[in-house]
Amino acid sequence: MNDRFTHYFRKHYGRPGLHLPSCRLGILVTLLERYSEGDEIILSPVQSDSVLASLIVAGLRPVFVDVDARSGNLRPGEIARVLTERTKVRAILTTHLFGCPEDLDALEALAREHGIELLEDAVHGFAGSKCGSRLVGTVGEATFLSISKFLPGAKGGVLLSEDEEFLQAAARRAHELLYRPQGKDRILSPFKAMLRHALPGLSRWRQARRKQESGVVERSFRSRHHPDFSAMTDKRADVRSDALLDDYMSFHDRFYRHPLSGVARRKTLEALDQSESVFLAMKEGQERLVADCPLRFLDPGDARYDVRWFRVPFATNRRDALRDFLRSRGIAVNYYWDSALHEYCDNSQLFVDCTEGSPRPAQWCENLVPLDPLQADGIIAALQGSDFAREAAR
Ligand SMILES: Cc1ncc(COP(=O)(O)O)c(C=O)c1O
Repeated sequence: MNDRFTHYFRKHYGRPGLHLPSCRLGILVTLLERYSEGDEIILSPVQSDSVLASLIVAGLRPVFVDVDARSGNLRPGEIARVLTERTKVRAILTTHLFGCPEDLDALEALAREHGIELLEDAVHGFAGSKCGSRLVGTVGEATFLSISKFLPGAKGGVLLSEDEEFLQAAARRAHELLYRPQGKDRILSPFKAMLRHALPGLSRWRQARRKQESGVVERSFRSRHHPDFSAMTDKRADVRSDALLDDYMSFHDRFYRHPLSGVARRKTLEALDQSESVFLAMKEGQERLVADCPLRFLDPGDARYDVRWFRVPFATNRRDALRDFLRSRGIAVNYYWDSALHEYCDNSQLFVDCTEGSPRPAQWCENLVPLDPLQADGIIAALQGSDFAREAAR
């Protein structure tokens, strides 16, 4: 493991980190290493669909629970109820939605009481959000980060854990997924992919070798691809590529995954060196947005939370119009979801819906616009005097 990289995460999170091409790969290898087929994982339905995809690909059963009206995060009381009814739950997976911390003390207590694990998807909470004295990213058995989303120039995701043996096993598993033949689908470096097409002889040789190995490798991304899964993610052009790994290239109509290059690793280290100034700029932008943005800010209203917003959430019943308006002024709006995950397909055999018909997950998906604190000045200027500001003032 890279020393400078590990040093950064030890210094900030007290634990080492494994650098991977994407956060979702970190989630996938963690699930494959720690749990068995059919185990259940509790998570919020207001979450990225790549996370749901990783769970399903790992052969686990996502269990969706209702979310809190003010934070959009998990409700510990609901989890407690679900845990009394379900015996196969092995972990709770957080979201720290838009950077707002989950109720970490309550989730940790629940996990302990029921002998299950706490996994932190801290993709949104990377900038230093806290619940009381607990820093997001330091609590769970494993934490997942997506540093490319925060730091200009950084690539990939990070898996953090105090358990170094587990990190080593995860690194081996990631390497296997990236390089080993997977049934009919291959994951190769771009260079090898080109060679393979350039040299048919080599290709035949590799095919023969793959045949030999195919009995050994039973886990394949695509063979685990459930028919309902494409219905679930029908908005995506290529479900399978989205399910697992960010960095891939297409060549002769096939996808080839590739690991992080030396250049990407070097740039990522440089970006980590700049992280404090980026996080400071985000905090200043968040303060300006909360003070001056003429829209209704969704305050989680919990005095224990010190929130470093990755995206500052504002309520609106005209999300798409507002998004288009901001885009027309050169301001990108992203990290919102069209529907909550449990709504992907009716009567799915793939997951368990324990939201009991609550309207809250849909409200959190559909009626807010998460604004980038680094674009605060542009957003405030664009909105001043706009219809959106007039509506919010009413
Ligand atoms: C909350 C959350 N978790 C996980 C991911 C996946 O991260 P990556 O794109 O690095 O795989 C995303 C991506 O947007 C996300 O928003």
